[in-house]
Amino acid sequence: MKGKAGLVTGAASGIGRACAVALAAEGAHVVIADLASAQDGARETLRLVEEAGGSGALQVCDVTRPEDHDALCAAVLAHHGALDFACNNAGIGGHGLLADTDVALFDRIIAVNLRGTFLGMRSQIRAMLGHGGGAIVNTASNAGLRGVREIGAYVASKHGIVGLTKNGALEYGDAGIRVNAVCPGVIEAGLTEDVSQERKQELMAPHAIKRLGLPTEVAAAALWLCSDDSSFVTGVALPVDAGSIAGW
Ligand SMILES: NC(=O)c1ccc[n+]([C@@H]2O[C@H](COP(=O)([O-])OP(=O)(O)OC[C@H]3O[C@@H](n4cnc5c(N)ncnc54)[C@H](O)[C@@H]3O)[C@@H](O)[C@H]2O)c1
Repeated sequence: MKGKAGLVTGAASGIGRACAVALAAEGAHVVIADLASAQDGARETLRLVEEAGGSGALQVCDVTRPEDHDALCAAVLAHHGALDFACNNAGIGGHGLLADTDVALFDRIIAVNLRGTFLGMRSQIRAMLGHGGGAIVNTASNAGLRGVREIGAYVASKHGIVGLTKNGALEYGDAGIRVNAVCPGVIEAGLTEDVSQERKQELMAPHAIKRLGLPTEVAAAALWLCSDDSSFVTGVALPVDAGSIAGW
């Protein structure tokens, strides 16, 4: 990744932080994007990036705001003259059976996870088209590849991200832009922090490898998809899920 620059959204913690550190450790300049309220975490990510010998910068970005994505891409272009990679990782969860799901919660999950990824891809593709292409990696979920009881809104948002990933790949492959997704199983990170042990066991039941995943294990896949090592791979939703999707 030496000589490359790009961005990671939701990089103040968890999987996003691990992606930023992994990319920077391989030589990339990484713009660490997250909410204004998450800047303490973002500063800690920057510290870890620098500790890993990499370079980075902070940028406030609420992924529900189109203008924040434009400003984020502009920041990378101003620094580097190209947007080589972008990880659309920011996301939120929410539990409830379908018929019990509050409309406001459904709308919020779709706004951040699905619409946020669409808005990111839209700005990033525009930036990449003018500057030699690039690689986009969306954080979907194995809940983007199958249903998971009691998280219907989340499942819908992540299936939507897989759809956007495929369309981005089809529409911009010829322009040198690759678009892929990682689909993590249950990972020891923010989204599972407040989940009860009992529910964690239930979610983990499909794991053939009987443990939680680490953010670094997802970051390794995202790093590969951002790098030229995956130069012939596009439109893929890659499970990083301990075998969950293989069946149980
Ligand atoms: N943890 C898991 O088990 C797991 C499994 C599959 C997929 N994922 C996905 O991985 C991604 C990261 O999850 P995590 O577990 O690391 O969670 P996390 O809570 O540690 O990280 C999410 C980050 O997104 C940021 N964020 C939230 N709303 C935002 C917004 N509107 N604009 C910008 N940033 C915003 C948060 O501030 C936070 O830093 C999410 O997309 C999540 O759906 C997580």
